[in-house]
Amino acid sequence: MRRLGVNIDHIATLRNARGEHHPDPIYAAKFAKKSGADSVTIHLREDRRHIKDIDAKKICSIKRLLVNLEISTNYKIVKNALKIKPNFVCIVPENRKEITTEGGLNLKKNRIKIKKIINDFKKRKIRTSLFINPSLSDIKIAKELEIDCIEIHTGYLANLVKNKKDYSNEYKRIKKASILATNLNIEVHAGHGLDYKTTKILTKIKEIKEFNIGHFIIGESIYFGLSKIIKKFKKIIRKRK
Ligand code: PXP
Repeated sequence: MRRLGVNIDHIATLRNARGEHHPDPIYAAKFAKKSGADSVTIHLREDRRHIKDIDAKKICSIKRLLVNLEISTNYKIVKNALKIKPNFVCIVPENRKEITTEGGLNLKKNRIKIKKIINDFKKRKIRTSLFINPSLSDIKIAKELEIDCIEIHTGYLANLVKNKKDYSNEYKRIKKASILATNLNIEVHAGHGLDYKTTKILTKIKEIKEFNIGHFIIGESIYFGLSKIIKKFKKIIRKRK
């Protein structure tokens, strides 16, 4: 059965915009689980622009909730992640100036560093994943690194689809990469920039076992929740004692 991981970083982005407590990512994590999410994803960024250490700690201590923690290869972040003890870890590239994760890891350049990080998590029986572009050579390196899973960066395909451009070559790259990884016994996940349409396109690739989706789910939830909340407030302000 395919799984859906819900990235709740942007609940924290919204909270941080006010510097107060609402909306609370811990409540959101519980709510996502109750609503059917198979896991929640959080990214502890080096600049802590959304999820903070205390959020990650609390979210990882919620009973029966599977948490996928995204981390960079930064030494301090890895150390924190080992203390936080998530169920899963996804290693991602991180650039301070980026708005969001812009591409996959450079496995050729960072293989020794990444291998050490993978070993640290494997020793603690934490499922590890590498966020990579759909490149066959990267998948071969991932296999040498003895990784459990890869997450394919789907941002390029998502942009082509959104801009109504031909996405067939990128789709084929993702499909080939997914088949190779599966044949090498690496579980395949997909994420970044996904919405209803792009997710539907990618469900044709049966090798993809998990989708991790954030920005669109949180954005779309506003439309679905807005009318309920407005009605609730109208009721409150109309009520006379
Ligand atoms: N997967 C990974 C590894 C990511 O870094 C991100 C973005 O933080 C996502 C999935 C979710 O991307 P989006 O918010 O565009 O759905």
